[in-house]
Amino acid sequence: MNLSERTREALNEQMMREIGASYLYLSMAGYCDSIGFDGFGQWMHRQSSEEWDHAMRFRTYLEDRGARVDFGAIDKPEKNFSSMLEIFERALESEESVSAAIADLYAVARDEKDLATQTFLDWFVTEQVEEEKSVKVIIDWLKRIGDTDAGLYLMDQQLGGGISAASADSGSAQAE
Ligand code: FEO
Repeated sequence: MNLSERTREALNEQMMREIGASYLYLSMAGYCDSIGFDGFGQWMHRQSSEEWDHAMRFRTYLEDRGARVDFGAIDKPEKNFSSMLEIFERALESEESVSAAIADLYAVARDEKDLATQTFLDWFVTEQVEEEKSVKVIIDWLKRIGDTDAGLYLMDQQLGGGISAASADSGSAQAE
């Protein structure tokens, strides 16, 4: 079954959205690095790579379905933030908008009776739950520690060590 033009366009838009998310995390990494929070910066870099990987999944899928990919323009990402909490709240906003876009894309695939695309999107539905959760855990942490240097230093060490959100959360319990 050929990919309908409507589904192709929606998949292509999502690929560009994922590239935009990668770009935003890269900009956030730059901000964290610029103020000396290398651990937060590494976490943002890892997220940026994951988003790039998501974009490439869409690209490969489009090509596997015999479609051409259109690379569009990417908006300039935000560059300056006022606090770590603000950065992560912005990251959550971005993840929530990606989740909503995946849901819309799923609806298009269902409308077009495109089972292969629905199955392809299942992975992203689960992935978005994980991504939103990991950002929310960090936001909770940041709210707990406030703007204290000691708390931010500890979080920076933990996030730089590649600790997942779930284990970071249990680490927080130990640190208290
Ligand atoms: Fe691939 Fe987190 O959006």
